[in-house]
Amino acid sequence: MTQLQIFLDIATEAALAAGAVLKGYLGKLEDAVTEKGRPGDLVTAADKASEEVILTVLRRHFPQHSILAEESGKLGNQDNQYLWAIDPLDGTTNYAHQYPAFAVSIGLLINGVPQVGVIYDPSGDELFQAAAGLGATRDRRPINVSQTSELSKSLLVTGFAYDRRETSDNNYAEFCHLTHLTQGVRRSGSASLDLAYVACGRVDGYWERGLSPWDIVAGIILVQEAGGKVTAYDGSPLKIETGRILATNGYLHDSLSRELLQVPPLSAWK
Ligand code: IPD
Ligand code: CA
Ligand code: CA
Repeated sequence: MTQLQIFLDIATEAALAAGAVLKGYLGKLEDAVTEKGRPGDLVTAADKASEEVILTVLRRHFPQHSILAEESGKLGNQDNQYLWAIDPLDGTTNYAHQYPAFAVSIGLLINGVPQVGVIYDPSGDELFQAAAGLGATRDRRPINVSQTSELSKSLLVTGFAYDRRETSDNNYAEFCHLTHLTQGVRRSGSASLDLAYVACGRVDGYWERGLSPWDIVAGIILVQEAGGKVTAYDGSPLKIETGRILATNGYLHDSLSRELLQVPPLSAWK
């Protein structure tokens, strides 16, 4: 068994265990939902319990590895070549409302490059896995991106970061522009599932800004291993720390990139 396969198996064990925790808390949070800082940026007892389970599994198997986890921050020596990026509950707003679009996302960067990704959707009981050179799967069967090559025939997905009330760079104009040019733009509320859905061909492309590494590391390797393309908005190599990502089936990449770079201002819609 290759080392990447071992990393993938352990990440899967952690994601499934965390998913069971999320199912256990669903609908039982009562007053255990608080805002982290920005309005709407929620954290619940379920986020924390899910993260604890993931940390326990990863630390047991890989005590030397570094970790970047949404609720705990940086753990261990961040200079280690192995860095796990963990979102214990991606889609907390959905979760708090019992809207079934949330996931556990566990990605591994090796020397800064996404190499392993597991995304688990407990509501749909769907497991997405990928590792560099090993392909991408849903429920352990190979998946591929879609073949849609025209924006006018595409279905896209995007999201809006929690700082959207504080900046004009809030993705509203992009959303209007692409809604006009495509068959639709969805907003699921879970960045990791958005990327997983690009990987399995349910949507043809995804873009978003204001993201953190734990939102996207697992999804990046999933899309790449499913045959898709992941870059910055302008098509240049992705820098994860910018939080701005364009992921497509590859066929739509250039046209979606071009449209994102020439979005009319919102006033144009009045
Ligand atoms: C959020 C979701 C959402 C995205 C936000 C993320 P959280 O993560 O992925 O889709 O639009 O930018 O912060 O807070 O639910 O883990
Ligand atoms: Ca998230
Ligand atoms: Ca989260």
